[in-house]
Amino acid sequence: MSGKSIEDHPRRPGQQQSSATRSKLMILLLVILTNMLSIYLFSGLSLENAPRITLWDSKALLQVLDSTRHKLSASEAQLAELHRRLSTSNSLLETLLDELGKAHGDKTPSQNLDGWQNELSRELKLAVGPHKLPRGFTPLLGTRELYPTLGSPCRRFQADLTDYMSYEVGKECPSDDIFAQRLMLKGCEPLPRRRCHPKSPAGYVEPTPFPTSLWTIPPDTSIVWDAYSCKNYTCLVNRGKAKGSYDCKDCFNLNGREKVRWEYDNGNLDFGIDSVLGTKPPGTIRIGLDIGGGTGTFAARMRERDITIVTSSMNFDGPFNNFIASRGLVPIHISIAHRLPFFDNTLDIVHSMHVLSNWVPDIMLEFALYDIYRVLRPGGLFWLDHFFCIGKQLNSTYVPMFDRIRFKKLRWNAGRKLDKGIDKDEWYVSALLEKPMT
Ligand SMILES: *[C@@H]1O[C@H](CO)[C@@H](O)[C@H](O)[C@H]1NC(C)=O
Ligand SMILES: *[C@@H]1O[C@H](CO)[C@@H](O)[C@H](O)[C@H]1NC(C)=O
Repeated sequence: MSGKSIEDHPRRPGQQQSSATRSKLMILLLVILTNMLSIYLFSGLSLENAPRITLWDSKALLQVLDSTRHKLSASEAQLAELHRRLSTSNSLLETLLDELGKAHGDKTPSQNLDGWQNELSRELKLAVGPHKLPRGFTPLLGTRELYPTLGSPCRRFQADLTDYMSYEVGKECPSDDIFAQRLMLKGCEPLPRRRCHPKSPAGYVEPTPFPTSLWTIPPDTSIVWDAYSCKNYTCLVNRGKAKGSYDCKDCFNLNGREKVRWEYDNGNLDFGIDSVLGTKPPGTIRIGLDIGGGTGTFAARMRERDITIVTSSMNFDGPFNNFIASRGLVPIHISIAHRLPFFDNTLDIVHSMHVLSNWVPDIMLEFALYDIYRVLRPGGLFWLDHFFCIGKQLNSTYVPMFDRIRFKKLRWNAGRKLDKGIDKDEWYVSALLEKPMT
């Protein structure tokens, strides 16, 4: 197999022609067969010579019924025979077409593993991507385009994948978790499994007991720092106070803004957990997901209310997954391009803050929103928290998108983003949406 992507292999005209010829032949044959079958059925099962009888002549009625039954079973047998002959001729035809295809130079499937066999349908094409990112995201994400989750794009990055799979069996894996994450972002997910052990942190100690763990920064010895620019939690906490933009900038500081998030409702963009839960009968919100949940504070607050939240997070220049786990919460390492690993109609609540916004290519956002709708149970809540966009995008793109997906709006607050007094027509939307009961 060559390492080239499918785009590097323009389809030969002969290939398209032969498949067009093939479908024409198929259609022609189907038309003939359908006609033959209907002629046969109408002539064979015609009841025009049935004798005239009256309903109260039960003996005559039984006789007629009996003979009709015989005729019917005879027809059934003939039909089965016809069916058998049809499938024989079908398989003969398939063989013939196969030979024709080979004569035209078609590849058989086993020789064609490095690309798609046929042209992709529109939906599949959208689902497979790639989708271009706005400028400025390349350094952080390590890719100019986002690829939706699908293991097969691994084929596009064969050289990287070969690198990833270079290690000594049974030994320590290379420290390449960020590299692996970048492959994931290019849609090479699931990644192949490996037969090596991830590097263990030196001097690991047992985790802080629950519930103290919820609000405790773990010891530096709990993780391997190789992949990050910070080499300890002090650095990560201080990074929030310094200049520069980082993913979830002040999330590692559990004594700052993190401490008060979602505790109060300001009647505007900041919804409070208790007012959101108050829209449902007590105790009926029990399990859910926080998409792109930073260091897990939403899940911690919900845990304090006996609600179990799984937090999805990537490790963008910070050990987010490890930090969430240290708090005694459940992290899952998936990107927003990943199909949510939950079954349809299962979750009571999905929350997402700052992650879903206008940086996500429109069509990918729509797929993601439908997926959220899918995993929510009827009556389940989708709390879209601080969705960022430009004013004119709001009414032209996003409001229609939400309407298409048919969430019910329980609450909708849109407000301008105040940025040092400069009006850039930047907006936030916070919304509480409900999946309809029926
Ligand atoms: C934490 O790491 C930074 C660099 O990332 C280093 O300058 C600092 O000395 C470290 N502090 C501690 C307490 O280890
Ligand atoms: C969107 O449309 C609504 C209703 O027409 C209007 O009140 C609102 O100002 C518009 N929002 C923006 C950001 O243009």
